[in-house]
Amino acid sequence: MSRVAYRIPSITASISFLLIAASAGVAQTIHGLPREGRGGDTKVNTRVGRPAAGKQEYTRYCAGCHGDHGDGVGENAQWIEPRPRDFTQAVFKCRSTLSGSLPTDQDLINTVRRGIVNSNMPQWRPLPDQMQADLVAYIKTFSPRWATEKAGTPVEIPPETPVTTESILAGRAMFQKFECWKCHGTAGRGDGPSASSLTDSKDQPIHPYDFTTGTRFKCGTTNADLYRIFMTGLDGTPMASFADNIKGDQGWDLVHYLRTLQPIRTPESILWKSWLATHASELKPIGPESGGR
Ligand code: HEC
Ligand code: HEC
Repeated sequence: MSRVAYRIPSITASISFLLIAASAGVAQTIHGLPREGRGGDTKVNTRVGRPAAGKQEYTRYCAGCHGDHGDGVGENAQWIEPRPRDFTQAVFKCRSTLSGSLPTDQDLINTVRRGIVNSNMPQWRPLPDQMQADLVAYIKTFSPRWATEKAGTPVEIPPETPVTTESILAGRAMFQKFECWKCHGTAGRGDGPSASSLTDSKDQPIHPYDFTTGTRFKCGTTNADLYRIFMTGLDGTPMASFADNIKGDQGWDLVHYLRTLQPIRTPESILWKSWLATHASELKPIGPESGGR
């Protein structure tokens, strides 16, 4: 996080101070399994946001990146990759709601608290709950969509199924069938055949997530967050929603497989390693030639 302060000399001293305070409270690398609530990422906040109060805080903490008019071109934006979000479009990556729809206020508050890993979007957990609600209320004034549309329908996430070899194998077959490997690579390294040519909705180059180095996601840390990500998709990016293809408990199979690709010890990776030790030769490689196992 302090990297942000170094790379952006013009950012005000108060912001750099806050960034350091924010990063001190949280281990950036999680060894072991991130579970619900780990790191205080999310917290229910039902306070009513006040846009006018939010404006002041926004100007102080957010405008340097997101711009006074919310268009994503604050004075620091030119140095930042990926670029700060343009709020005038009301297109958000992290939602609990279906692709193409607006996120809930709680979704936006979760993002503000959590920050966005692998980007310059800081964590704002130290800000009081009321201030977080005010900021979100103000962000929503930048696009007329919020005046005419309601937040979308939340994606339903059934209770997690047990972690079994069968579940992991079924998830592996889905990784093959739904061609996740085309972007994320056959081993999840983010180096699939389509990876180098991808752009986001603002024509900026964008890279698929590398599971083999990533412990957290832009939109969360838990198994349920992971389930939600491929069901909602990351709007404005080539990471589409798979809600039309993946139903109910099937999603957990994919989650269980994706967890085996990450560099963290999880129940999934422990089970998978021990299974592979005696069964690796039974697997067909993932990729264009294969139909999975
Ligand atoms: C140092 C620059 C920086 C500052 C300061 C900053 N942001 Fe961001 N913000 C970003 C970047 C970069 C992204 C896009 C990250 C990405 O797309 O992966 C982003 C994305 C977002 C998003 C979109 C998340 C989504 O789901 O698409 C929200 C909401 C947001 N910021 C809110 C805020 C608020 C509120 C503040 C002030 C309290 C703030 N940001 C301050 C850089 C910043
Ligand atoms: C067309 C290319 C493409 C395909 C196909 C694709 N993805 Fe992605 N995926 C991406 C890109 C690009 C990102 C990074 C988006 C970003 O950084 O904002 C991403 C990000 C992700 C993330 C991390 C999101 C986060 O919050 O950090 C997960 C998890 C993911 N993809 C899972 C999958 C799964 C599972 C499949 C198959 C069912 C799949 N993807 C198929 C391009 C793709």
